[in-house]
Amino acid sequence: MNKVAIHHTEGSFSDCWVEFCKKNQIPFKLVDCYRSDIISQVRDCSIVMWHYHHADCKDVLFAKQLMLSLETAGKKVFPDFHTGWHFDDKVGQKYLLESVDAPLVSSYVFFEKDKALEWVKRTDFPKVFKLRRGAGASHVRLIKNRRSAKKLINQAFGKGFSQYDPGANLKDRLRKYKIGKNSLLDLLKGVARFGYTTDFDRVTGKERGYVYFQDFVPGNDYDIRIIVIGKRAFGIKRLVRSNDFRASGSGIIEYQKEHISEVTVGVAFEVAEKLKSQCLALDFIYSNGVPKIVEVSYGYTKGVYQNCPGYWDRELNWHEEPFNPEYWMVQGLLSDKGAEQEV
Ligand SMILES: Nc1ncnc2c1ncn2[C@@H]1O[C@H](COP(=O)(O)OP(=O)(O)O)[C@@H](O)[C@H]1O
Ligand SMILES: [Mg+2]
Repeated sequence: MNKVAIHHTEGSFSDCWVEFCKKNQIPFKLVDCYRSDIISQVRDCSIVMWHYHHADCKDVLFAKQLMLSLETAGKKVFPDFHTGWHFDDKVGQKYLLESVDAPLVSSYVFFEKDKALEWVKRTDFPKVFKLRRGAGASHVRLIKNRRSAKKLINQAFGKGFSQYDPGANLKDRLRKYKIGKNSLLDLLKGVARFGYTTDFDRVTGKERGYVYFQDFVPGNDYDIRIIVIGKRAFGIKRLVRSNDFRASGSGIIEYQKEHISEVTVGVAFEVAEKLKSQCLALDFIYSNGVPKIVEVSYGYTKGVYQNCPGYWDRELNWHEEPFNPEYWMVQGLLSDKGAEQEV
């Protein structure tokens, strides 16, 4: 019988993993991935699950390495190699999505300053500048002209970019406070944050030595996020912030099925299959009505999706019923053929 090792972090996927195992009498044990003896902790388990997080600097230091080591040793893991390697790495995703001919918004990366400056002379504007890491649109900017692009290139190959921008952080906290999504305490925390940076910034250091741009796709006042887990998918529509082009992290969400086209769901399934993902969140915008991917991710904030009224199966049939997507992750590992098999 498969025994499941779960690294538990409250508020993460693991809440549901533990609940699922308890409900279904599946043998499991809680383990601590941060302990040096983690490999011996999981010796008696054939499955290891850890919802590691892009913004936890401890996780960034070794989570992928640990999970890949266990996978090499023959254990089934979540997230596995294909699911996790490109997590929080938009540069990696560019190569991956281009490799499988996925409809990625045209993206450009440079590792040499002179090549970047040369490209700026020839290309048109606006463009979208992104750091390879980050979520909630925290490191995504609209670049309106050549001069701004050059400035960013100089910074990318000079002092680099901090992972944490206290001004932008406070601005977003104030916006969320105004629309009732944040408490006054959350807002005040943003002020306090001017005094010290984040652990993440201290540990991971500056982003530098590369520069990444995408074509700006105009006319999108929302993005669509579809999450594919095995043979099922669900999604939300996220509206952009006011006077802004960025939807992720806005906190303004529509859940009704009518907001999401079947074509988009179909593309999401196809790309998730090509990437061999156990779980893939895809962010879509639309260019003349055609869905284009801006980024992908294995992780998502589970609470946000609890209001989804249903899900699609692989044949794009809609199932309007309560569901627990984090249960599907465990079911996928327990089924013999992994997440590919209907469970
Ligand atoms: N190339 C683009 N053209 C137009 N809008 C974009 C583009 N890329 C991103 N966006 C908008 O910015 C938001 C954040 O971009 P994304 O690449 O998903 O970064 P993050 O990892 O911060 O969510 C998206 O939700 C989308 O609304
Ligand atoms: Mg996004």
